[in-house]
Amino acid sequence: MKFCSTLLLCLAAALPFAFGISPQHMWTKLILTHHWPTTFCSMEQPACHPNISYWTLHGLWPDKGIDCNSSWHFNSSLIEDLLPDMKKSWPDLLNPSSSSFWKYEWHKHGTCAAKAASLDTQHKYFGKALELYHKLDLDSILKKFNITPSETYYKLSQIEGVIENFYNVKPKIQCVHPSKNADVQILGQIEICFNPDFSLMDCEKYSKTEKISLGNPIADEKVSGFSVCDQDMPVYYPSLP
Ligand SMILES: *[C@@H]1O[C@H](CO)[C@@H](O)[C@H](O)[C@H]1NC(C)=O
Ligand SMILES: *[C@@H]1O[C@H](CO)[C@@H](O)[C@H](O)[C@H]1NC(C)=O
Ligand SMILES: *[C@@H]1O[C@H](CO)[C@@H](O)[C@H](O)[C@H]1NC(C)=O
Repeated sequence: MKFCSTLLLCLAAALPFAFGISPQHMWTKLILTHHWPTTFCSMEQPACHPNISYWTLHGLWPDKGIDCNSSWHFNSSLIEDLLPDMKKSWPDLLNPSSSSFWKYEWHKHGTCAAKAASLDTQHKYFGKALELYHKLDLDSILKKFNITPSETYYKLSQIEGVIENFYNVKPKIQCVHPSKNADVQILGQIEICFNPDFSLMDCEKYSKTEKISLGNPIADEKVSGFSVCDQDMPVYYPSLP
């Protein structure tokens, strides 16, 4: 009898955790997304003139939530000290002198990331994204292992292999598929994922049928035309035009 009542008490205490009741709607993963300016601009012509030949930041996206607080306005004077690095590492490729890209990312993703105390100000959010971007130094790592823009196509597994071997986690790599019958895909985005404590973790590849779930950062891909690279199709990594 005594054993039973103790067990019940233990179960009761464990229930809220088992059902994830608290904290509500909290994200469990952060996705740091890099994009390749030449590929991005190839989809956005003529507005976009790529003159950048390194991987730049697209965003830092929590895995849950979109537009979590519309009254929390972006204010660039709160990140004034970060702006020189923002312009270099997180440029608005369509409009380099504007802050509208950062404003967009803050409203869509930053206000959701901000549910965690570690990211609950604009300065923490943008500062952490820059910190993770520099810590990964993806552009240098790819170069170091001879993944550079080339007229010779890569196998997806070559690019994945370099990233997996170096960081010990699985990335999610996205490509542009120029047309339905194209026999080549163009390297576009590389996502690296983090735990809430900012340690590295595996990203997941979403199958095409899973793309519909609400509040998923995948929505950005639909707009931008990126989708998970095909494992068997040659990969074109384009240099500046
Ligand atoms: C790229 O071009 C834009 C607009 O012409 C300019 O503001 C920016 O400084 C250039 N960036 C680099 C890295 O040359
Ligand atoms: C939304 O942001 C405003 C402005 O920063 C803040 O006062 C408010 O508490 C936030 N609301 C929620 C639900 O976090
Ligand atoms: C932006 O933040 C600065 C510094 O906190 C503040 O002085 C200014 O009033 C804010 N601007 C807006 C439009 O909220």
